[in-house]
Amino acid sequence: MKKVYALYFSPTGNTKKVTITLAKSVQNALNIKMEEIDYTSFYNRKRKYCFSDEDILVIGFPTYAGRLANKILPDLEKINAKGRAIAIPIVTYGNRSYDESLRELCLLLKSKGFKIISQAAIVCEHAFSGKIASKRPTDEDLGEIESFGNKISKRIQNGDIRETEVDISPLKSYYTPLKEDMTPAKFLKAIPKTDKTKCDRCGMCADVCPMNSISSEDYITVNNVCIKCQACVKVCHSKAKYFDDNDFLSHVKMLEKNYINKKNNLFIL
Ligand SMILES: Cc1cc2nc3c(=O)[nH]c(=O)nc-3n(C[C@H](O)[C@H](O)[C@H](O)COP(=O)(O)O)c2cc1C
Repeated sequence: MKKVYALYFSPTGNTKKVTITLAKSVQNALNIKMEEIDYTSFYNRKRKYCFSDEDILVIGFPTYAGRLANKILPDLEKINAKGRAIAIPIVTYGNRSYDESLRELCLLLKSKGFKIISQAAIVCEHAFSGKIASKRPTDEDLGEIESFGNKISKRIQNGDIRETEVDISPLKSYYTPLKEDMTPAKFLKAIPKTDKTKCDRCGMCADVCPMNSISSEDYITVNNVCIKCQACVKVCHSKAKYFDDNDFLSHVKMLEKNYINKKNNLFIL
């Protein structure tokens, strides 16, 4: 093996942290090169990527409504394996459930010819609320990820690169977000609002939007699709961006009420 890649889609930074931690531990243990691919960037996602059988692809995605973000799926078609490149898929989730996201990522990689030698699902602070899985991944989580990376590396060194099992049955549909009263929350059309009295027009929101949807003329208008990722809200140093959609806010309250018990990370070797 010559190189490990850390490829991640990570609007609010947790998946990036998790993916890089795993890739670095593999890099150190195998003493090979590492390259980062920030797949959050609209422009990076337009490129084609091809990995060879001398590469290890550590690929991280967040769980959105129990699956992978559907608006990003077409871009993933541009990732391919030449030969049987090794892949280590890793999903993050905000303490509710990763539902089908890990399996969806595994199935997609398998269909591209990647050899999946291990998988993980890691609990991270929910992008919708700092009260859910607050501050995760913690140092303890990152330590678990590092030791997982060391175990994977040992297997590679021993020439043991058998594939992990992936259930190939059809994927279940997306999770329906619920309101506090447990009826469906409908916020597909919600977009971030801007408090003009706070906005200092720094433009960071437009820069970080993975969909390239925020106007770089007024930083207020949303010209394209919004995936509710919260990148613009979190990056805004003057706290000018917010969501005020009633169904969205009710869903966040429901999550804060029902998903507070600490969940464990999943590691499959
Ligand atoms: C639109 C959206 C949908 C989400 N859906 C789920 C979900 O179904 N289950 C869950 O546990 N967490 C869910 N989350 C939380 C994210 O998976 C979690 O915060 C993730 O770590 C965010 O990754 P990032 O920090 O790399 O952006 C969702 C977050 C967003 C923004």
